[in-house]
Amino acid sequence: MKPIQVGLLGIGTVGSGTFQVLRRNQEEIKRRAGRGIEITMVADLDTARAKAVVGEGVQVVADARAVIANPEIDIVVELIGGYGIARQLVLEAIAAGKHVVTANKALLAVHGTEIFAAAHAKGVMVAFEAAVAGGIPIIKALREGLTANSIQWIAGIINGTTNFILSEMRDKGLDFATVLKEAQRLGYAEADPTFDIEGVDAAHKVTLMSAIAFGIPVQFDRAHVEGITKLAAQDIKYAEQLGYRIKLLGVTRRVAQGVELRVHPALVPSKRLLANVEGAMNAVVVHGDAVGTTLYYGKGAGSEPTASAVIADLVDIARLHTADAAHRVPHLAFHPDAMSDLKI
Ligand code: HSE
Repeated sequence: MKPIQVGLLGIGTVGSGTFQVLRRNQEEIKRRAGRGIEITMVADLDTARAKAVVGEGVQVVADARAVIANPEIDIVVELIGGYGIARQLVLEAIAAGKHVVTANKALLAVHGTEIFAAAHAKGVMVAFEAAVAGGIPIIKALREGLTANSIQWIAGIINGTTNFILSEMRDKGLDFATVLKEAQRLGYAEADPTFDIEGVDAAHKVTLMSAIAFGIPVQFDRAHVEGITKLAAQDIKYAEQLGYRIKLLGVTRRVAQGVELRVHPALVPSKRLLANVEGAMNAVVVHGDAVGTTLYYGKGAGSEPTASAVIADLVDIARLHTADAAHRVPHLAFHPDAMSDLKI
C-alpha cells in the first residue's frame, strides 16, 4: 500500500525531531502502522533552514497553503504555534479534507470547540497527543486506558520550563532570568516564555485534559491561572526548610458545582512523588473511580520527546487507513506484518 503522505507546517524544534525520528525508525513504524508514513512536503518561512533539515527529496515551500492545496497530502501537521495563522490553516486543512495533527495546546484550548466541530462535520481527525505533557502519552491514557473510569481528579506538573526553573533555583541557587534563558536555549520554553512563567501554557494543557476526562467543552477562559513570577528564591528556601517543595501544578477535579480548573504554585510535601519530579520532566497523576490513582512520568518538552507524540498520532491515523483491518486494532501486535526479525 502507498505510504500515507504528510505535510509539515513549520519545521523548528518539534518539526525537526519529527522528521528525524520518523526517518530513523521508519521500518518499525511502518510495521506497526500497517503502511509507510512519509513527510513529502514541508512549509516554513525559513526555507533554507527547512532544506537543511530535510535534504533532497522533500518539497520545501514558504507558503503553508501550498501544502493544504496538495491533493497528495493526507495529513497536515501544524507546528507553527499560536492562535492566529495556525487557526486559519488548521480550519483550511480540515475544510480540504485533511486529517490534522497538532502540538498546539494554545490553539486547541482557546479554539478547540470550533476546530473539533469543523473536523467532526468533515469526518477528519484532529489529533493532539503532543499538545499535553510532550512525550507522555497522557491523551491516550485518558481516552483509551482509563476509558472505563469516572475520572475524579487530575493533578500534574505539565510545564517543563517552570519545573526546570524551580529545580535549578533550588539546587543551584541560580536566579530566575538565568535559568529561563537556559530553558529557552534547550528548546523547552514557548516562543513567548510569558506563557510558561505565568502559568498559561500549563492552563492550556489542563484545560485539554479536563475536557477529555470530564467530557466538557474546552473552556480555557474558566481556568484560574497563576504562574511562578511572584515567587522569590527565599520562598523556595523556606518551603524546603519546612519539608515542602514548590511546584507549579495544574489541577482539574469534579466538585459539587461542576468541574474545577486551576494552575498555581503549590507546596508539595518533599516525600511525595510529584515533589521529586525535577528539571524539565513532567508528571501527571490521574485518579479514576475504578483504577484508583495512576501516575504518568516523562519528558514534557523538547524535540524528540514531543516528536514521539506527534508520530503516535500519525500512526493512529495511518492505521485507520490501512487495507488490513487487523492493523486498526493496535493491540494486535502479533499480526505477522508487525513482527520484526529480531531474535531472542
Ligand atoms: N513550553 C512547554 C514546556 C513546552 O515548557 O513544558 C512543551 O509543551
